[in-house]
Amino acid sequence: SLPLSPSLAHKLQGLKLAFLIGHSHTYDTVSASSNLDMEDRVSQLEQRLQLQEDEIQLLKAALADALRRLGCCEDQGPGAAAPGGPQAPGGHRRPLSNSAPAFRYLSSSNINADTHKPFCRAVMFFSPPPNPSPSPNTMYLMFLRGRPVTMHIPDAQRDSYTLDHKGAAPDRKLKLQWVYGYRGRDCRSNLYLLPTGEIVYFNASVVVLLNTEEQQQRHYMGHDDDVKCLSVHPDMVTIATGQVAGNSKDGKVLHPHVRVWDSVSLNTLHVLGMGVFDRAVTCVAFSKSVSLLHKAATAFLVPHFRVDCSNDSVLGAVFHPMDPNLIVTCGKSHINFWTMEGNTLTKKQGLFEKHEKPKYVLCVAFAENGDAITGDSSGNIYVWAKGGVSSLSAVAGAHEGGVFSLLVLKDGTMVSGGGKDRRVVLWDHDYTKQSEMEVGEPLGPVRALSEGKPGELFVGTTKNAIIRAAFPDTLTPIVQGHTDELWGLDVHPSMEQFITCAQDKLVQLWDTNSHQPLWSKAIDDQGRSAGFHPSGGVVAVGTMSGRWLVLDTDTRDLVSMHTDGNEIISNIKYSPDGNYLAVGSHDNFVYIYAVTENGRKYSRAGKCSGHSSFVTHLDWSQDSHYLVTNSGDYEILFWEAPSGKHVTSMDAMRNMEWATYTCTLGFNAFGVWPDGADGTDVNAVCKSHSSSLLASADDFGKVHLFTFPCSQPRAPSHKYGGHSSHVTNIAFLHDDSHLISTGGKDTSIMQWAVV
Ligand SMILES: *[C@@H]1O[C@H](CO)[C@@H](O)[C@H](O)[C@H]1NC(C)=O
Ligand SMILES: *[C@@H]1O[C@H](CO)[C@@H](O)[C@H](O)[C@H]1NC(C)=O
Repeated sequence: SLPLSPSLAHKLQGLKLAFLIGHSHTYDTVSASSNLDMEDRVSQLEQRLQLQEDEIQLLKAALADALRRLGCCEDQGPGAAAPGGPQAPGGHRRPLSNSAPAFRYLSSSNINADTHKPFCRAVMFFSPPPNPSPSPNTMYLMFLRGRPVTMHIPDAQRDSYTLDHKGAAPDRKLKLQWVYGYRGRDCRSNLYLLPTGEIVYFNASVVVLLNTEEQQQRHYMGHDDDVKCLSVHPDMVTIATGQVAGNSKDGKVLHPHVRVWDSVSLNTLHVLGMGVFDRAVTCVAFSKSVSLLHKAATAFLVPHFRVDCSNDSVLGAVFHPMDPNLIVTCGKSHINFWTMEGNTLTKKQGLFEKHEKPKYVLCVAFAENGDAITGDSSGNIYVWAKGGVSSLSAVAGAHEGGVFSLLVLKDGTMVSGGGKDRRVVLWDHDYTKQSEMEVGEPLGPVRALSEGKPGELFVGTTKNAIIRAAFPDTLTPIVQGHTDELWGLDVHPSMEQFITCAQDKLVQLWDTNSHQPLWSKAIDDQGRSAGFHPSGGVVAVGTMSGRWLVLDTDTRDLVSMHTDGNEIISNIKYSPDGNYLAVGSHDNFVYIYAVTENGRKYSRAGKCSGHSSFVTHLDWSQDSHYLVTNSGDYEILFWEAPSGKHVTSMDAMRNMEWATYTCTLGFNAFGVWPDGADGTDVNAVCKSHSSSLLASADDFGKVHLFTFPCSQPRAPSHKYGGHSSHVTNIAFLHDDSHLISTGGKDTSIMQWAVV
């Protein structure tokens, strides 16, 4: 006989639906099971398990809601728990217009259409039954994984709102302007200088052409997943890049393949090897003297060659510069010389004779006279006369640890790059050491070397940095970035700057004009969230361990440090007036702190408790008096600040002006949810300061741009690729001129011009 809150009633209704359909699903499974093989059975059992987990989540959410309501009744004392529900502002109680709603199914998307997804993944929209009274609907329901999410319509929009209205994508578009990052960790030979003065390399699915003098980037965007290798044609204009296999949003396989394109026009010339490779193209090479396309296509892409190659991993494959029919491959304990005749390849193994046989041959280069030179994991450099198999000579102990890269310069001298010792060494024609320099520890071991203008080198490192170098000791970083999963992002309130923090325990402040970090600071914990104080003077950083810290934006000094719980701090946001800080945690609570001395002093003022799952997003009201939060089980809750008291009356909340819109669930944002979304498909949203745009970051590597408000199901948007993994966060710069996006696994930062 406990009065049911509208939201609990919706939940129970959702539960019934889940059980009902879940049951018929089970029935289907059983009747069909006789001729299913093991794998199908297992996957069906997994689906059922998932279904049951969803149901349990739903029960938990319903229970939490009941408990909250009970708590609320107790707070208000006897008589307050009448079926009319919460009190309206002003003290008098008012019946809710939808206190016992029977919702009518309005539209749905691919329920059961995709047998690989349980039914409850579909997003469905429900509207109340036709209202007998003239007053229009006040709320809509959206279902995520079988859980109902209530969207309250602001009064101002209520009269004109209909669910069926089709909005339009915005007039404004995004243009990728800058990619902060380079993939050096697990790729090789992927950094070259072009005659245009640009260096070419890749990050995520973007191939970047960077003019370091003019601070300009151009981008080749033809790939749809991680690029793993790159080769420049001897004409120095044509470029080949290879990518990994991926999955599109609708579960289609994106095949690994090679794209050949023109670095001046950025036009794609050829697409090679679609359907030939299983997982990834990790190495491409142009022959040095013959017109390549045909040769490369036959030599590298016919399965014949792939089978023949070796069971040991291959790390490099290059054409001999003088003998167009000779290919050298190297890798685990081997170097092989392949002769191409017609369509056959004949292998000759390189013999190490009396020399130490390395665990890995890591790189190959060619001397002016045609000798092949190899660098290996034992730190040795071997010279294979005329690219042949005889007369081997050695420069033993060239590096301490592996030789990761070799480069023969135009003047015939050679540069080698070390892994463990991080040294770049210059060798004379007769392989005597001429000079050496060491890359600093934070920038990492040498991965790739490329010749720049006379006397200048480009060095790529395994910590994903690119350095401009010159002997004897000039080392200037030109590309830097994070090296582990990245989620934390916020923009400076008044300057062209943004802050990022990642699981690599680095906090970095970036300048969007110079594209360089203004500073970088190592902290003790993995970073997860960040928020600027409205003054811009300090910035708060939330970590994965419950700890959060405040740094001085200018000096990067630690100003304050606190710990709340021991779980991920997913959100950290100052109130617009700067007097409070809200700290949202995976322990289901939001902690509210009073902030004094311009962001230097913090004292706990309240705690929001009531979520039954982790806090995913939060926003402050314009007047700094309220908070709205989203959680892992798709609840939208409202709170008073700084007390943290749960607000149950929607009358005020539905009309609240929020200072930011980063909650992915809410009336003004729910249109970003795609067909068949499972509730984790949208990681972040952000409203532009002009309030005309809403950007979203999805789990499939895409950034979307919508018109704000975005409150029509499946609202039209512009969609942009570039990231190769889940996009974790987005933010408009203070003047809306740019949007910044961060990638989770790809750890890249992209800067988009709003045009
Ligand atoms: C992109 O760049 C970042 C920063 O340099 C680097 O850590 C990351 O590994 C790169 N990711 C990919 C997928 O290329
Ligand atoms: C690779 O391994 C398979 C099975 O272990 C073997 O049959 C094949 O001959 C090997 N190929 C080469 C080139 O060593």
